[in-house]
Amino acid sequence: EIMPSLVGSEMCIRDSINNVFWRLTMYPEDLMEKVLFTEEDIQKRTLELAKEISQDYKEKEIVLLCTLKGAILFFSDLVKKLDVDNTFEFIRASSYIGKTTDTSGNVRITNATSLDIKNKDVLIVEDIVDTGLTCVRLTEYLLANGAKSVEICTLLDKPSRRVYKDLKPKYVAFKVPDCFILGYGLDYDEKYRDIPKIGVINPKYIK
Ligand code: PRP
Repeated sequence: EIMPSLVGSEMCIRDSINNVFWRLTMYPEDLMEKVLFTEEDIQKRTLELAKEISQDYKEKEIVLLCTLKGAILFFSDLVKKLDVDNTFEFIRASSYIGKTTDTSGNVRITNATSLDIKNKDVLIVEDIVDTGLTCVRLTEYLLANGAKSVEICTLLDKPSRRVYKDLKPKYVAFKVPDCFILGYGLDYDEKYRDIPKIGVINPKYIK
């Protein structure tokens, strides 16, 4: 049952089974110029990767390192599908500033949790590998802090933008072309991370 629109871009849906109201955030219909991957595509591919990772880390104890903020949705879906002993850590690695769609060349690393990685096999879970700068710096940082091994699992890979050519993420859900992509954790000016699918932003929304 759809209720009339509330304020601005929000609306409510009544869930008659649980008898609650869900508040939905609506986005302009043409926010995405093109949908690249639906929720179903993402879940299917995430399960395939989870199986691969579980097999590769069968005898190991893996530290799953979520890079905030972008990877949070992918991380949360991936870990639920894994079948291997694991622990979680969170890190903030930031290379983009404000609204710009270009990388600044610097990476700021801030520990969100006190990293317990000494002699552990770390799997970095990223939302996107673009120039590769973030993953290169993060890998160096983790190895310098005692990680036994470091591998990368990324939702999206944009190889055409790679500056650090030697960087090859071991697990890649999807390769994407060189466009500005958003949704499922990826933002534009900190917005739209909650959209459950992945698409290319319509240039008219880039300010
Ligand atoms: C994005 C993304 C990667 C990085 C990829 O993070 O999450 O960490 O950029 O780019 P690179 O390969 O060129 O280094 P961002 O700094 O936008 O932070 P966010 O995850 O909080 O959005």
